[in-house]
Amino acid sequence: MKKITVMLSLVLITALISCDKTKSKSDSETTKDSSKVESAGNKTVFGKLPDGTEADLYTLKNKNGIEVKITNYGGIIVSLKTPDKSGKSEDIVLGFDSLSSYLQDPPYFGAIVGRYGNRIAKGKFTLDGKTYTLAQNNLGNHLHGGLKGFDKVLWTVEEASDSTLKLSYLSKDLEEGYPGNLKVNVIYTLSEDNALKIDYEATTDKATVVNLTNHTYFNLTAGKRDILDHELQLQSTQFVPVDKTLIPTGELKSVKGTPFDFSKFTKIGARINEKDEQLKLGNGYDHCWVLDHKSGGLETLGALYEPESGRVVEFATTEPAVQFYSGNFLDGKFTGKAGVKYQFRYGACLETEHYPDSPNQPKFPTTVLKPNEVYKTSTVYKFSTK
Ligand code: GLA
Repeated sequence: MKKITVMLSLVLITALISCDKTKSKSDSETTKDSSKVESAGNKTVFGKLPDGTEADLYTLKNKNGIEVKITNYGGIIVSLKTPDKSGKSEDIVLGFDSLSSYLQDPPYFGAIVGRYGNRIAKGKFTLDGKTYTLAQNNLGNHLHGGLKGFDKVLWTVEEASDSTLKLSYLSKDLEEGYPGNLKVNVIYTLSEDNALKIDYEATTDKATVVNLTNHTYFNLTAGKRDILDHELQLQSTQFVPVDKTLIPTGELKSVKGTPFDFSKFTKIGARINEKDEQLKLGNGYDHCWVLDHKSGGLETLGALYEPESGRVVEFATTEPAVQFYSGNFLDGKFTGKAGVKYQFRYGACLETEHYPDSPNQPKFPTTVLKPNEVYKTSTVYKFSTK
């Protein structure tokens, strides 16, 4: 009897142990699985579009405390946290906490801009003998893809992880007036060396024009004040002068001896109010700088620095130019994250791209994409302190 009791107890103990093992195994499997799901984009619901479709928010993070949140509505970079020189992590881009605020037509905060970033004169261009008419949504010209550009569409999420978000969008033939079904991919990658890379790819089934960029407004003080004390450096010896509707005159002008010379780090506010015709036309800086590429590849060609926080954002790009916009149309109308009112010159945009109005300017590098070609550009924003 004693023997049987001992045997029974042994069986029971063995059963309990193996049961416990199974449990801990399944626990760890669950943990592993859910961490997989978690890291499958670290996705949360951002809100609903007027038609009831959900837009999500994805978090990319690295081990050095950089965190980027991006929504698939407009591919918008909603927040971007980087440490200052004392290690304090703060949000350095303008934007909103909720999707509903992005639906109120803000000026492209953080968004992907396309099919043509920047302006096309009078909303018209001719390709292969055919004239196309686009929306005239800015002083009689076409701006940033039209009434419903790539900043206002829901992108499909192809891949999402802690470090990558791949979005895709099919812009149908004649959407916003542009010819050709354009398949677009935009891939955000956050690396362990503190760089956010944005790769743009596109193909078309009819000749079209393409100029994709990102419209993030940086404020390296994390929204404490305007960007006039930020210092800017651009590897550029020429810029693109504009007329009173901000359309290029067609020439390129040397920056030498003008307030447009940022070859050395210079405060944005240092010369912004000088009596300069181009500054007057742009109400500040709202111009395209031709970048002095050495190889034409992905090269570091400029940086933004804010002395108090010590934050630096360097940019590298394959693009031939950058539109530096000093937030001259911001006027306090939009209240962003943490209740901050986005006042005059509260953000600095570094929109890497082709020159404005290239479809009508035969001397500018071409923005035409043909069916047998692949559009591929990259821009990297690298974060550090000094
Ligand atoms: C661009 C333009 C500016 C302005 C902003 C959005 O950067 O160049 O003129 O339209 O977008 O407000």
